[in-house]
Amino acid sequence: MQRMPLPMNSSQAANKSLVIKLNHVKKDFGELKVLHDVSLEVYKGEFVTILGSSGSGKSTIFNIIAGLIDYDEGEVTVNGSVGYMQQKDLLLPWKNVADNVSLPLMLKKTDKKLIAEKLEAYLPLVGLKGYEESFPFQLSGGMRQRASFLRTLMTSEEIFLLDEAFGSLDSITRRQMQKWLLDMKMKLNNTILLITHDIDEAILLSDRIYVISKIPAVIKREISVDFNRDNKLERFLSPESLKLKEEILEIL
Ligand SMILES: Nc1ncnc2c1ncn2[C@@H]1O[C@H](COP(=O)(O)OP(=O)(O)O)[C@@H](O)[C@H]1O
Ligand SMILES: [Mg+2]
Repeated sequence: MQRMPLPMNSSQAANKSLVIKLNHVKKDFGELKVLHDVSLEVYKGEFVTILGSSGSGKSTIFNIIAGLIDYDEGEVTVNGSVGYMQQKDLLLPWKNVADNVSLPLMLKKTDKKLIAEKLEAYLPLVGLKGYEESFPFQLSGGMRQRASFLRTLMTSEEIFLLDEAFGSLDSITRRQMQKWLLDMKMKLNNTILLITHDIDEAILLSDRIYVISKIPAVIKREISVDFNRDNKLERFLSPESLKLKEEILEIL
């Protein structure tokens, strides 16, 4: 008797729509072998983190996803519009908040009325209502970070690439911003791919974590964070988090 072929995808994959897929991506910068073999998938609505030490090729992965640089081998698929918050705080010191966050859309010659509408809708969401006219030096670290986040949001609501979004913040502000980000994600119901080298941050925020090796980079482990999914803040200092942290420390 002839056997029925197995379905191509698991039921899990069939229910979720794929937003980002990297399939065996390889990238060298001249002699420097940066990405050896990187495969990863992000589904709609997920919060996925790439965790690895510095210099492990994480930003290179984002630059490839955002289409800023080419890759040598493999395949990259992106379904949807991407907002990219780069590692460096790119706020221009001589422009106020409103002009800074509108800049990418201004450069794309987006209708001024549309820009103004977006600003009005999003400023309160990121807690910067009333600070439109402020200059970056007048803002706290957390506010500058939210301004950068807002600029990303102005370009796309669908897929967020956040490269070490909280790297430069003190630990107290960082914790507040992590809470804020989870809240924001609930409101926007979007897809987030985050880069971090902070294990606690990865555990607190993620649905899944890809642990990346040093260069030439490969994905060492994919971890599904299955506890406290609906209230991630309860993960903070929980026994499950500590256990997972220990597991990750052994991999790294
Ligand atoms: N445009 C580039 N040209 C040459 N080397 C680069 C370039 N971008 C990154 N690199 C190198 O690739 C390696 C990985 O960099 P990066 O992706 O920024 O790592 P991470 O974000 O994990 O810290 C580093 O050694 C870095 O110096
Ligand atoms: Mg980086």
